[in-house]
Amino acid sequence: MTSLTPRLRRIADFVRLGVSVLDIGADHAFLCCYIAEKGDNSRVIAVDAKPEPLKHGQYAAKGLPIEFYLSDGFTGLPTEVVSDIAANAYDIVVAGLGGETIIDILRHAPVNTDTRFILQPMSKTDKLRDGLAELGYNITEECTIQDGKRAFAVFVAEPPR
Ligand SMILES: C[S@@+](CC[C@H](N)C(=O)[O-])C[C@H]1O[C@@H](n2cnc3c(N)ncnc32)[C@H](O)[C@@H]1O
Repeated sequence: MTSLTPRLRRIADFVRLGVSVLDIGADHAFLCCYIAEKGDNSRVIAVDAKPEPLKHGQYAAKGLPIEFYLSDGFTGLPTEVVSDIAANAYDIVVAGLGGETIIDILRHAPVNTDTRFILQPMSKTDKLRDGLAELGYNITEECTIQDGKRAFAVFVAEPPR
């Protein structure tokens, strides 16, 4: 089983069983590998805006059932994937990015009443809160996780119902 840092493990623990998972800014894809190895989620998708991290992720995945896409947030995803996200239950993770970047990504998100976001900003947490409020998103859970010398905020948020 892929070993996760306490920060990534906390994020993984927020993911609901049975739903599809989209990880935007997946980088090394450790989170997707862990989720795919557990096998509790129907579809696992890793997205990164840069080719190198995507390659590292694909290497780490070693045949696990994870789909990889090179895309800036949602904007470069294939139509079929966007339609699937819009129509089905998804937990969408955006972790390890700045609060403002996370909000920029969320502005293009296809959502439905069973979409949830698990968000972990590295900076500008206030901007993330402000942006979620502006978009009408509801923060349903939040916690702080200590990982080494740093404490990280993790949010679960839902789009307007
Ligand atoms: C610091 S890493 C975080 C990796 C992982 N999510 C984590 O929390 O450990 C940030 C990754 O997000 C990617 N990224 C940044 N902006 C992005 C965007 N708009 N869309 C997709 N990926 C993005 C970067 O290329 C990088 O691989």
